[in-house]
Amino acid sequence: MSSIFEPEIIEVMEHSKSGQGKPTASLSTTEKEEIDREFSHYEDKGSVGLEALRIVQKHRGWVSDESLHAVSAYLDIPVAQLESVATYFQLIFRQPVGKEVIFLCKSASCWIMGCNRLQEKIQNKLQIKPGETTEDGIFTLLETPCLGDCDKAPVMMVGEEMHRNLTEADIDEILDNKANINRAEGCRHNHAEGSRHADKSAD
Ligand code: FES
Repeated sequence: MSSIFEPEIIEVMEHSKSGQGKPTASLSTTEKEEIDREFSHYEDKGSVGLEALRIVQKHRGWVSDESLHAVSAYLDIPVAQLESVATYFQLIFRQPVGKEVIFLCKSASCWIMGCNRLQEKIQNKLQIKPGETTEDGIFTLLETPCLGDCDKAPVMMVGEEMHRNLTEADIDEILDNKANINRAEGCRHNHAEGSRHADKSAD
């Protein structure tokens, strides 16, 4: 499984300034700059918490305990407060996920319109159950309550893209496209890495 972490993030273990005695991974300069920019949009530090978690997740793929403590220390807000924000907003991942997270709506309208059939299709195609990630690290499947598009049920989100009025054929097309894009990106990344190593050995 290829890394979902940006190379610039260097994990430096330090003692948490939040006073809760947990080791914490430092935030990168980029993460701090992006969090600082959010301050201009919010009145108090507490409100920036969710955005700060989103920023960390964007760079690291998910929010580990260490990352949570790092945000807590940086914003000087309690870990428990951030933890409850992370728990409430299901788009904050507290464990590693695949590059593409599938949110399949399981609420009433989508259930009436056949989301169970679609779920079976996804599970068979990817060989995973809800909460699991494919072996190649590309897809994670999650069930979710109403996504707010009930009149276009059944509905699912893949990453930040909403897919509506879904059929089983759509599932094939969407997931095949995503898999191809991710594999192509993986190949480009490996090729670039190979060239870098070749350049180094030629020096
Ligand atoms: S029930 Fe699925 S979007 Fe509302």
